[in-house]
This record gives sequence, structure tokens and C-alpha cells, in this order.
Amino acid sequence: MSLPNDRRDLLIGLLSGSILSIVSTGALCYYYYSTRLLQNSKTAASPPAAGRGSVIVEGVDGLIGNTPLMKIRSLSEATGCTILGKAEFLNPGGSSKDRVALNIIRSAEEDGILKPHNGSTIFEGTVGSTGISIAMIARAKGYKAWIVMPDDQAQEKYQLLEKLGAHVEKVRPVSIIDKKQFVNLARVRASQFGKVDDGQQKLSDMVGYFADQFENEANFRAHYQATAPEIHQQTQGRLDALVLGAGTGGTLSGLTCYLKPRIPNLKVFLADPQGSGLYNKVKFNTMYAPTEKEGTRRRHQVDTVVEGIGVNRLTRNFDLGRQLVDDAYRVTDEEAVKMSRFLVREDGLFLGSSSAVNCVAAVRVAKQLGPGHVIVTLLNDSGQRHLTKFW
Ligand SMILES: Cc1ncc(COP(=O)(O)O)c(C=O)c1O
Repeated sequence: MSLPNDRRDLLIGLLSGSILSIVSTGALCYYYYSTRLLQNSKTAASPPAAGRGSVIVEGVDGLIGNTPLMKIRSLSEATGCTILGKAEFLNPGGSSKDRVALNIIRSAEEDGILKPHNGSTIFEGTVGSTGISIAMIARAKGYKAWIVMPDDQAQEKYQLLEKLGAHVEKVRPVSIIDKKQFVNLARVRASQFGKVDDGQQKLSDMVGYFADQFENEANFRAHYQATAPEIHQQTQGRLDALVLGAGTGGTLSGLTCYLKPRIPNLKVFLADPQGSGLYNKVKFNTMYAPTEKEGTRRRHQVDTVVEGIGVNRLTRNFDLGRQLVDDAYRVTDEEAVKMSRFLVREDGLFLGSSSAVNCVAAVRVAKQLGPGHVIVTLLNDSGQRHLTKFW
């Protein structure tokens, strides 16, 4: 098609004008956004924490650990201390127990006990988090999971376990001296697994493995070898206090045994929920909870809405670091509930019950030490796992 010269010149002029305007608008937009981003660099996307988001990882186990240490703004401003929470809820299974489950399974593999894809099953007695982590890692590595749990935990934990393909066995909460207590039962189930009636093993290398998080030192090592060095590096060794609760005690002992020799003035505090005997064990070397007093004893030994911490017996993993714990704080359910609501309101931080207990105790430590100190605590899991009970 041929156009008269004057119309062709007009068309060329219009087209080049539009292109120039698109290019210049683009340049202006780029200039505008880049300057705004520069001006607002404090609120712009910050670089990811080392090891998270900066490398390609292999499989679900590659997502475990290297969690950020976050400054909890509201508590830091209120106390004049720097209160830091290790964001363990960012682990793929939603809690710090991913580290423990992975290390327990790896150690059993290294010892030649567990071999994948032969029907071997991992058994554990747990209030939920460790079970969820075991179920997830068992799937990823070619094992089955059998989880024995008290029947009074938050409903979403049972649902999660079932969705992850674990066999879930719910039992009444009873004392540790009862054979049907969830940990005792998991041990028995593991020992019976794969045996036919005459006691013979059905398949030579298929085993039932009892993870035994309370007594298994692979739990302690998971924190000694990874969580603790991470905290040391993230704070560059500049921390004055560590404060956290204990269930198995693996986290408390692992962190304390690694950090105390490296930071000589570090103080370690136990945060204990109501009904737990550990507070008295740390303070007076006597395992005793007021709820055990004659005439006051209630249905559960550790009677609290808090899940995951608080226990009335001395476990191997707690014992490993017990002597290095300086002091303890008791935290009531009411204080934990109030703290959890406060953190959502002020920081948008939606936490589970044990993390709320840790934060209450962190504030008490801040008040005891005075402004200017650095306090580290653990944010073990998110409130999403506690919707039907604590929340
Ligand atoms: C949510 C949650 N927080 C904290 C803990 C306590 O950690 P540890 O067993 O290392 O004492 C547990 C233990 O089960 C837990 O499930």
C-alpha cells in the first residue's frame, strides 16, 4: 500500500511520538519507583537472612533450620532491652521440632538402625509438634510414622498428622508411671512392631523405631550443633540472657551447653507453665508442682492450656543442661493468653502457647536486668496450631 508523502510523514511522526512517550514514561516510572524505593529503603524488601532464600536447597529437609532472629518491637520498646525471638515457626513442619525429628532419624540411619523404603516405622509419644515433624520427614525419607498422643490436644494437630499419612493413636492423659501413658505406649508399640505371635521377626530389616525425644540425645545435639551456633552467629555473641521453656529439655540444654562456655556472662532462665515441676527443680532442686498438693490434685498432672512445655519428671535431655540454668520463672495461663493477644495487636505476631510463655518470661528477665540488655527467646510455633485450644 502506498501512502502520499505528507500522510506518511504524519504517521511516522505520530508513531515515533508515541514510542518516545512510552519510553519516557517508562523512564520516569523507573526513576519514580527507584527513587521512592531508595527513599523508603528501610521499608523496602530487605535481603534474606543468610542461608534462607539465598541458596537452592534439596528437599523438605533442606528447608529446616537457619531461622531468622527477629526483634520483637513492642516488647523491646516497652522494656528498653532488645528482645529477640528465634522464628522457629518458619520451619517447614511449623516448629522447632523439625530439627529434632530430622536429627533423630539421621542418627538412626547413621547407626544402621533405619533403612528407608522397607516398611520401617517410626514410633513416638508426643503432644503433637514432634509427631508432625516426624510424619513429614518420614514421608520425605521413605518411612512410616505411628504417633501416640494424649487425646486432649488441639484438634488441628490430629488432622495435620492424618493428612501427612501418620497413624494416630489417641490415649487418655495419664501419669508417666501408667503403662498406657503416651510415651510408654509408643515404646511398647515400637518393640511389638513387625513381630508375629511367636515373637519371630516377619521381615529381617523392617524395624519399629522408637524416636524417644525425651531421652534420645540426638534431640540435644540438634540444638547444640545447629540452633545454638545460629544464635551465636546472629547475635555475634552479644547476648545477656536466654529464656525459654522446656518439654523434653532438648532446646534448653542444647542452647545452654553451647552458648554458656562461649559467652561467660550469659544468664539462662527457664520459663515454666503452671502445673509443671521444673520451676521447683531449677530453684530448689525438688521436682514438685503446687497442683500435686494433697487435696488439690486435678485430672492432669500438668494442668495448663499451654502445649509443648512443662513436665513433672526429670528427662535425660533436660538433665544435660540443668546445672547451667541460673533461675526460673513461673508463667500462668492467664499471663500467656494475655501476652499472645498483645503480640497480635501490637506486632502482628501470631504465636502458639509455649512461645507466649517464653515472651512473658522474657519481659520479666528484661525488668530484672534493666534496660540495655539483649535477651533471646524461642518462638517455637505459630498460633495456627493452637486455634481450637489456646486461641
Ligand atoms: C510447641 C513446642 N514448644 C516448645 C517445646 C519444648 O521444646 P523441648 O522439647 O526442646 O524442651 C515443645 C516440645 O514438644 C513444643 O512442642
